[in-house]
Amino acid sequence: MAGIVKNDGILIMHNNQLEIFIQKIPKAELHVHIEGTLEPELMFRLAERNGIKLKYPSVDELRSAYKFHNLQSFLDVYYEGTKVLITEQDFYDLTWSYLKKRHLENILHAEIFFDPQIHTSRGVKFETIVNGITRALHKGEERFNLSSKLIMCFLRHLSEKSALKTLEESISCRDKIIGIGIDSAELGNPPSKFTEVFKRAISLGYLPVAHAGEEGPPEYIWEAIDKLKVLRVDHGVRCLEDKLLVKELIKRKIPLTICPLSNIKLGVFKSMKEHNLKKLLNEGLIITINSDDPAYFGGYINENFLEMALALDLSKEEIHIIAKNSFEASFLEQKQKNKMIDIFRAAI
Ligand code: HPA
Ligand code: ZN
Repeated sequence: MAGIVKNDGILIMHNNQLEIFIQKIPKAELHVHIEGTLEPELMFRLAERNGIKLKYPSVDELRSAYKFHNLQSFLDVYYEGTKVLITEQDFYDLTWSYLKKRHLENILHAEIFFDPQIHTSRGVKFETIVNGITRALHKGEERFNLSSKLIMCFLRHLSEKSALKTLEESISCRDKIIGIGIDSAELGNPPSKFTEVFKRAISLGYLPVAHAGEEGPPEYIWEAIDKLKVLRVDHGVRCLEDKLLVKELIKRKIPLTICPLSNIKLGVFKSMKEHNLKKLLNEGLIITINSDDPAYFGGYINENFLEMALALDLSKEEIHIIAKNSFEASFLEQKQKNKMIDIFRAAI
């Protein structure tokens, strides 16, 4: 066990020893939606700045509305919150507020999703979003040596035509975006719906990932790897229902970006103890731990590590493997990967 002893469920040794252990491990975050890092305090500040009236009168009342029972119940609240993001400065402030705290968690590298269609559908220009985010990413690099990459997600509840239009809009910012993904409501919106847009994106040099197997069945993961040719699966926890799929993910070395607190808050698992992360690890899958939408799910990356370690009795070695995987599974160039893995090795 990771520096803790439990007796009849009562923690005898200090959780904060484990907390410090996790904090000190250099790591990469590969699954975080920038819009999902919008904390209520900043949401209120931006609403005031842009003259927007929020549905809730106070930060506390807004937070108390963060009770979700599935993905859609979360998405409804999440999309509502994004309405305060209008100017380049708003996207900059959002991203900067994520970065300035993340380096304290010992994150060396972050691959950050954004959902352009949420904003362009409200009249915000594609460049406004990307310029605001990347200005903050550059500052993060300069100020904290925090490396980062940007991944554009298509909303899967919208049409492939809309995704194709967004892809074309993105070309003017091609050098600022490393990859593409799909997110939003999974059930009823299988990855195969986006086969053509992924083909075109890959031909433009974008690296493909996809949310699959969060709420959706293993067939959606098959479609993501076979039809969309993804290099990583976001979530993917339902792969365990299909032995052949697990074998294939291992054979093709396709990592999963797992988000434990998200999975509990959205009812994918009833409790942390029932999470299948350890089983996935034991199967030999390349798994990573991430925060998804930390402002909504009650914790950033280190809290996700901590809650998983406590609930599943992860060993120090297992925690180290998961953290090292985050560099291996990243879209960093090999030279940068090696450099970060060296930093990781020196720190442990
Ligand atoms: N799943 C699907 N879409 C999302 C998520 C998620 O966890 N977070 C933000 N958009
Ligand atoms: Zn996600």
